[in-house]
Amino acid sequence: MKRAVYPGSFDPVTFGHLDVIRRASEMFDVLVVSVLNNKVKSPLFSVEERVKILKEATKDIPNVQVDSFSGLLINYAAEHNMHVAVRGLRAITDFEYELQIAQTNRKLSGGALDTVFLTTSLEYAYLSSSSVKEIASFGGDISECVPDFVAELMKEKYGSEFISE
Ligand code: PNS
Repeated sequence: MKRAVYPGSFDPVTFGHLDVIRRASEMFDVLVVSVLNNKVKSPLFSVEERVKILKEATKDIPNVQVDSFSGLLINYAAEHNMHVAVRGLRAITDFEYELQIAQTNRKLSGGALDTVFLTTSLEYAYLSSSSVKEIASFGGDISECVPDFVAELMKEKYGSEFISE
C-alpha cells in the first residue's frame, strides 16, 4: 500500500492546499495530511484546531487521513511507513525553498523519503495562508480563498471588524 504524507503548517488550509490534497489523494492509496507542530511560529489556529479544520475540509475524500507531527519530517515519515512527501509549487520562489528541503530530507533519510511536487492549479497560484490571514485581519473578502466554514472561524478569531461578503 502506497502511503504519502503532505506536511505543512495549514494555518489555515486554503483552496490551494485542498487542490493539492485532492489531486495527490488520487495518486496514493493513503494520503496523510500532517500539521507541523512548530513551537517557533505563533499560529492563528492551534494544531488541534488545524487538524479539526482539515478533517472537516477533507471529509469527502475517503483515503485522506489527518494527523500532526513534531520534530523532523523524516523521522515521522519513517515511523508511519511513508516514503513520499507531497508538496505544492506555486512559483519559482517556492521551488528554491522546496528544492532545498526536499534534498535535505532525501539526504538525511538516506534516500528513504522522496518528495513529489504538484504544481498548484493556476486559479490558486496566488494563494497563501499568510496573505489570507492578512486579508482577513483587515476585513477583506476571503470567500475565494478558503471554505466558508474556515472564513467563519477566521471571522471569530479576528473579531467583529471582519466582513466576509
Ligand atoms: O506549510 P509550510 O510551513 O511551508 O511547511 C513546511 C514544512 C512543514 C514542510 C517543513 O517546515 C518541515 O517539514 N518541517 C519539519 C522539520 C524538518 O523536517 N526539517 C528538515 C527539512 S529542512
